[in-house]
Amino acid sequence: MPRIAYVNGRYVVHRDAAVHIEDRGYQFGDGVYEVCEVARGFVIDTVRHLDRLNRSLGELSIAWPMARKALIVVMREVIRRNRVVNGLVYVQVTRGVAGRDFVFPPPDTPSSLVVIARKFDMAAVAKRVENGLKVITVPENRWDRVDIKSTGLLPNVLAKQKAKEAGCQEAWFIDTDGMVKEGGSSNAWIVTKDGVLVTRPADHGILRGITRTTMFDVAEKLGLKIEERKFSVAEAKAAREVFISSATTIAMPVVEIDGATIANGHPGSITLSLRQAFFDVAEKIKA
Ligand code: PDD
Repeated sequence: MPRIAYVNGRYVVHRDAAVHIEDRGYQFGDGVYEVCEVARGFVIDTVRHLDRLNRSLGELSIAWPMARKALIVVMREVIRRNRVVNGLVYVQVTRGVAGRDFVFPPPDTPSSLVVIARKFDMAAVAKRVENGLKVITVPENRWDRVDIKSTGLLPNVLAKQKAKEAGCQEAWFIDTDGMVKEGGSSNAWIVTKDGVLVTRPADHGILRGITRTTMFDVAEKLGLKIEERKFSVAEAKAAREVFISSATTIAMPVVEIDGATIANGHPGSITLSLRQAFFDVAEKIKA
């Protein structure tokens, strides 16, 4: 059975799926996206993801490509056609197709919509959880509106490539005060010696991760305290546990930062309990 993607009104074979060469997403990175986890046949946190999509679109004055309810139908259909039980569904909306010009195209230009679904390799995920991730730090070099989930991700691409070349799986952006912002595609967390979770406030300096938001609900259920404050690289290296969160990783342990081993070098028990409780707490719709 071939993989299927949705592109501007049509379900097409994935290998042939294409957008126009003058799509503004392709030309300018003039678009936004969402990634939702699909777990055990459910789409996770759809409401929060689509609320954030609405915000990203609004901040950039890009029109919704279709009604929200219709988009959910398409997402579920792409998941179904690809038989994804555990994986992700990717939604991308751009400002549409128009002759290359920096300023916005005419307001009647339809937004472009692409939806892709992909299965996870669950054995690889299990291995990652068991081993934990290694992180490098890089200076923050992105614009100051990273709260918008834009497809313009060049600094993230370069940072994550640098991490890969260093034998690591994530890069953390560090501000000029030496404080951790977030990962190239995840939010950053530490657990203090007292078992308190610490994560940077979601002001304009980071993306307000949906997994991060739901993690507050998970922490409450587990009776864990969260402090929203900045933390330094030094504090992270000395922490009891370190982890990242995103729709594709949930809570994923970090065992090394810039070559320094975190605690005993093994995934922490609080991280693993957050990871385990996440599915039950998160909002779910049947895929
Ligand atoms: N990335 N910060 C950045 C820069 C991200 O790209 C992401 C998600 C997050 C976490 O957000 P959420 O919990 O809503 O997934 C934080 C997705 C997974 C991606 O680009 O593939």
